[in-house]
Amino acid sequence: MNKQVPFTEHDLALMADQKSVWHHLTNHTPYEEAAPMMMVEGSGMRLRDAKGNEYLDSTSGGLWTVNVGYGREPIAKAVYEQLMKMNFYSQTAGNEPAAIFAEKLLDKMPGMGRVYYSNSGSEANEKAYKIVRQIAHKKYDGKKHKILFRERDYHGTTITALSSTGQFERKNQYGPFTPGFVEFPHCLEYRSQWGDVADYGVRAAKEMERVILEEGPDTVGAVVLEPITAGGGVITPPEGYWETIQEICAKYDILLHLDEVVCGLGRTGKWFGYQHYGIKPDIVTMAKGVASGYAAISCTVTTEAVFDCFKTDPSDRDGYFRDVSTFGGCTAGPAAALANMNIIEDENLLDNATKQGEYFNSRLLELKDKYAFIGDVRGKGLFQGLELVKDRVTKEPVHESIIMQVAAHCQNKSNVMIGRTNRSFRDFNNTIALSPALIATESDIDEIVLALDKAFAEVTL
Ligand SMILES: Cc1ncc(COP(=O)(O)O)c(C=O)c1O
Repeated sequence: MNKQVPFTEHDLALMADQKSVWHHLTNHTPYEEAAPMMMVEGSGMRLRDAKGNEYLDSTSGGLWTVNVGYGREPIAKAVYEQLMKMNFYSQTAGNEPAAIFAEKLLDKMPGMGRVYYSNSGSEANEKAYKIVRQIAHKKYDGKKHKILFRERDYHGTTITALSSTGQFERKNQYGPFTPGFVEFPHCLEYRSQWGDVADYGVRAAKEMERVILEEGPDTVGAVVLEPITAGGGVITPPEGYWETIQEICAKYDILLHLDEVVCGLGRTGKWFGYQHYGIKPDIVTMAKGVASGYAAISCTVTTEAVFDCFKTDPSDRDGYFRDVSTFGGCTAGPAAALANMNIIEDENLLDNATKQGEYFNSRLLELKDKYAFIGDVRGKGLFQGLELVKDRVTKEPVHESIIMQVAAHCQNKSNVMIGRTNRSFRDFNNTIALSPALIATESDIDEIVLALDKAFAEVTL
């Protein structure tokens, strides 16, 4: 007699997912035949999917988020206890974890003065843009309202965040965009736009000045930049770049907004990416690593000088920042963020990110010696990238199908999840992005490098 095997809860979830969920950045046609992947458990750097396969995660949750690793009980407990005490009240009033986290965060950000809470990186950036626009109205009769952004940077998914994104393939078919956002050229020295120049960093930064002058300095209110470009190809800034950007901002009275959504909270070995370069920002936005994905939270942090622009006479009906974010009043986010920050401190994870990042980079350079199609290795801390090319002399990028093959090989043959540029630019979806949790050990890194080595050995260009 045939005994029917009952469905497990994972099988039921897979069927429900296949039938009912619309996944992010996903063409669903292949999922008419088979269910998408579903992660069901995580511990440390390791994940298990619904079919029982185990993986080493070199992506921190696919999107540079789970900085302290999976399964952290102190964070879960802090969130539970906070939710039982007080789960939500609008941020028009205060709540305890938001106040305490803000103070602790500002302690790590000398020069910064205030924290504004919301829920996603895109939203944090939108708040910054609204702050810049309102300052333009308050101080410059609305004129100094333009916001510059850089080719290859990404700042989020909403229409206005996309309007400030320098990745044309991501923007395709979503226009028309919000006016007042102006692009200037990227700073990836490996793909220098001006040939072999000695002072590439200064040259690339001066492109921002060129655009400011073209637009009119009295129309430009701010520039938004990633300290290290993430999804645009792990682009570390060239020598002299940041000093020149800072000088230009000061010269034309332009606010410097740094998007730390990926670099924020430890990824590069310092609390923030900008802290490697001696930059003094006016606005810093952050999200992903703030609570390592244990709860949704984002922050728009400003200097006291920016905040002061909004401290006006109460009789001025338009004078204050008239913005609200309902879930900015959820207490789970800051409760998780506090516990997350305590873990980073108690376990010295900034030092680990620096030490293991150097080791990781040296192992990737060994791979570069072995495989001619690795054109460039770049990164800082546990944030590393490999750009693949058909030919080291012409630097012609490999087709995106090659890095898709590499990622699939790592996942299916070595059980290692790796990241990659994903349809950001039509010709330059050729970078592998590696961002393990800040707890990564030398042996985790060896396992990631071995998986890449095996995949590279089999890939045909
Ligand atoms: C640099 C950067 N800024 C902003 C965002 C948008 O964040 P979110 O997806 O939380 O809206 C991202 C997301 O990947 C990002 O990489």
